[in-house]
Amino acid sequence: MPDNHFTDADGRQSSGTEQSPEKMDAPRTTSRKRDHVELVVHRDVAFRAKSAGFERVEFVHNAVPELNFADIDSRSVFLGHTLSAPLMISCMTGGYAEAEAINAALGAACERENIAMGVGSQRQALENSQFVESFRAARRAAPSIPITANIGAAEVAAGMGSGNAQKLVDMIEANALTVHLNPLQELLQPEGNTQFAGVLAGIEQLAGALNVPIIAKEVGAGISAAAAERLLDSGVDWIDVAGAGGTSWAGVEILRRGNPELVDMFWDWGIPTVDCLIELHQLRQSRAFGLVGSGGLTSGLDLARTIRLGADLGAAARPFVRALKTEGEEALHAEIRAWKFQLRAAMFLTGSATLEELSRAECRLAASGTQ
Ligand SMILES: Cc1cc2nc3c(=O)[nH]c(=O)nc-3n(C[C@H](O)[C@H](O)[C@H](O)COP(=O)(O)O)c2cc1C
Repeated sequence: MPDNHFTDADGRQSSGTEQSPEKMDAPRTTSRKRDHVELVVHRDVAFRAKSAGFERVEFVHNAVPELNFADIDSRSVFLGHTLSAPLMISCMTGGYAEAEAINAALGAACERENIAMGVGSQRQALENSQFVESFRAARRAAPSIPITANIGAAEVAAGMGSGNAQKLVDMIEANALTVHLNPLQELLQPEGNTQFAGVLAGIEQLAGALNVPIIAKEVGAGISAAAAERLLDSGVDWIDVAGAGGTSWAGVEILRRGNPELVDMFWDWGIPTVDCLIELHQLRQSRAFGLVGSGGLTSGLDLARTIRLGADLGAAARPFVRALKTEGEEALHAEIRAWKFQLRAAMFLTGSATLEELSRAECRLAASGTQ
């Protein structure tokens, strides 16, 4: 497929943005992104019968830590930047007017707390330039932290091209491009694009052309070792498992489309985050790649468990946007600080002075399903 064509949300082939951006189906993308935040903040969109699995990961208490709490070092290098903790606010939003304030607030909190951030899908910015500032707001508020750009697998599969991808990266001076893999979500969206054939070839093309690393990420259904291997073969540098057990995107789309009887059984579809991390940690014995653990993290203790399971970084979306939208910016800052304290508490109580030590801390893992 030529570099200047990609498929819009209805599966129609459209001219590339460099030629005719205003002709695309912008309003639909815009209202979808607004719906997502509203549903995630105001409705119960968590998995119902499946957990992320963090309750199965039990650190063994160390009564003689032989270190001072004040000396604990939770710093972590991500995309060339030293963060105060291995934490990222996951990719969420942009592409409509109100998203500018949300991304500015998320960016300001990440900058102040020195953690990483991802913007939401920039697909809308490929369609027209109306809401470009809603994405740029994140970088304006956070000039020094790593920020990841974001585009969907369907756009990559449709041959959006490296020129468009680089444009998204440059738009926010991103440190990486996240390609989100969301076949379940697209399937359940009334306007979804289920043309995923060609996604690996599309990723391979981007990997050879972009000046930043590529992060392949699910949105809450998880990435298996077999899927990760195919992504790594296509040239991705990082895998963010975004596993099952947190926000159910099937749930969000079921609530959005309002005919749950057809698809309700998919509400809990996906691989729990803990299972993804165990598989991918194993894969890291033979393949080199960065690993982000996300999907259903609810605290700094879950973040510590994520690091113990072999991830370089943990990430979360819904807990942070909920804090921001229901209680305000100060509550968001407080939430991030609480997670950092809880991480350091787990380090202290396992006698881990560094994240490297935490990744080897004594820990019991209950079998799946036994809780
Ligand atoms: C309001 C909202 C919008 C989201 N939009 C995107 C997106 O545009 N791109 C993406 O890669 N992930 C998106 N996600 C998925 C999150 O990045 C994350 O993978 C998922 O919500 C699981 O994490 P959680 O359980 O901490 O919410 C979104 C999540 C939320 C809550």
